Amino acid sequence: MITNPFHYGKPVTDPDHFFGRRREIEQIVTRLQNVACESSSIVGERRIGKTSLLQRFLSPAALERHGFTSEYVFVYLSFEGFSHITPTRFWQWVLEELEPKTENTQLREQIALIRQADMVDLFEVRRLFDQFTRKGLRIVFLFDEFEYVIRNKNFDADFYGGLRHLATNYNLALVTSSSRELIYYCHSAEIAGSPFFNIFANITLKPFTQEEACLLIKEYLEGTPVSFSREDVAWLLHIAGCHPYFLQIAGFFMFDAYTREEYAGPEKVDRRRKYVEERFEENAIPNFVYYWGHSENGEKITLAALALQSKRYPDRTITADDLKRLYTQVESALSPLIKRSLVVEHDAGYHLFSPVFQEWIIGELTDVSVESEMTLEQWLEDYQRKLVERVYERTREVISRVNPKYWEVVGRWLSNSKNREQVAELFAWLFRTK
Ligand SMILES: Nc1ncnc2c1ncn2[C@@H]1O[C@H](COP(=O)(O)OP(=O)(O)O)[C@@H](O)[C@H]1O
Ligand SMILES: [Mg+2]
Repeated sequence: MITNPFHYGKPVTDPDHFFGRRREIEQIVTRLQNVACESSSIVGERRIGKTSLLQRFLSPAALERHGFTSEYVFVYLSFEGFSHITPTRFWQWVLEELEPKTENTQLREQIALIRQADMVDLFEVRRLFDQFTRKGLRIVFLFDEFEYVIRNKNFDADFYGGLRHLATNYNLALVTSSSRELIYYCHSAEIAGSPFFNIFANITLKPFTQEEACLLIKEYLEGTPVSFSREDVAWLLHIAGCHPYFLQIAGFFMFDAYTREEYAGPEKVDRRRKYVEERFEENAIPNFVYYWGHSENGEKITLAALALQSKRYPDRTITADDLKRLYTQVESALSPLIKRSLVVEHDAGYHLFSPVFQEWIIGELTDVSVESEMTLEQWLEDYQRKLVERVYERTREVISRVNPKYWEVVGRWLSNSKNREQVAELFAWLFRTK
């Protein structure tokens, strides 16, 4: 039985399987090792490799290689699914994880005392970190899926103020992971404005480069009896788009195909690719559903515009101007989509990270078999009413202050849905300042 070197589904915990991310790790390590022991926030869409990266800091061999001495204590917690915890529960949990990692008996006893109380006293927590700092110890909390905490309304500005106080005054650093930048998830302007977020350097995880993706495949295949043809490697990169997770799925099934008689060999390339593509789709689609479901409307429109335009003109570079002609507000959506690794920038143009994702979007958008809660007629009526109300409101706001000789001209200007909001805003500004 030949062991498949590609893995997907679980984060990478085996250091031999971890690939790349050298620059990101260096940045995190440098910040942790400087005098101030500084925090980092790893940002990247689901499956880009955040947990795998955090797990590096739990590997004794990797830590030694990065020059971490025994004064560093790394504590990993994943908040995934914990949407409603309270600050007390948060501290109890954090301390519960810290306790077994603390070698000093006196500190361990102190932790046990604090965490067993009904309410965690922040003053006691502060004293605890003071003790750690005096003993020359540095605590690093690896908080995976930290957006679950940021979104949680039980955590108010005082909580973040307290956490910032600990991180800035003691040897305590946070390395968090979240799908989008932490500030995106704040449930109030007060929290979004909190200086807590200034303690972090944002590190965005991107897909691998073409060279890295090729190297990953090459390194994984070393020591196995399999080697992919150059064309198959190029094809894998094309369908998986250098994205670590999708690359692993595609690599896994390509490896599988190479070890089966019915798919191996140069003459079976089409059958092989069909096999890989079908398995790839099966595994990738639940993630596409998630990415799409977690996209705002502007992002969905941009994804759809890009998918349709790329399908129509497969050999053209789709530029920002092409997309802007289809959707005026495309620019504000492109940047988050690139950060989420769903859209890739290349040669001054854009494409979706995978053609399989492109086809899925088009299929999803035009799937008429889905049952609707209302009939199309009801929906249209409702839509038209809302549209008329909106146009009417905007027109009224502006025209009420315009010379009647120009009602017709300005009315026409406002009738263009592409710039109605901007024109209304411009007049509103004029009337405010006039
Ligand atoms: N550095 C890496 N080297 C090799 N494979 C990776 C790496 N990062 C991610 N992967 C692949 O992507 C998958 C998802 O990674 P994971 O760390 O769970 O992502 P996230 O936490 O961002 O959702 C892993 O199962 C693995 O197949
Ligand atoms: Mg994860």
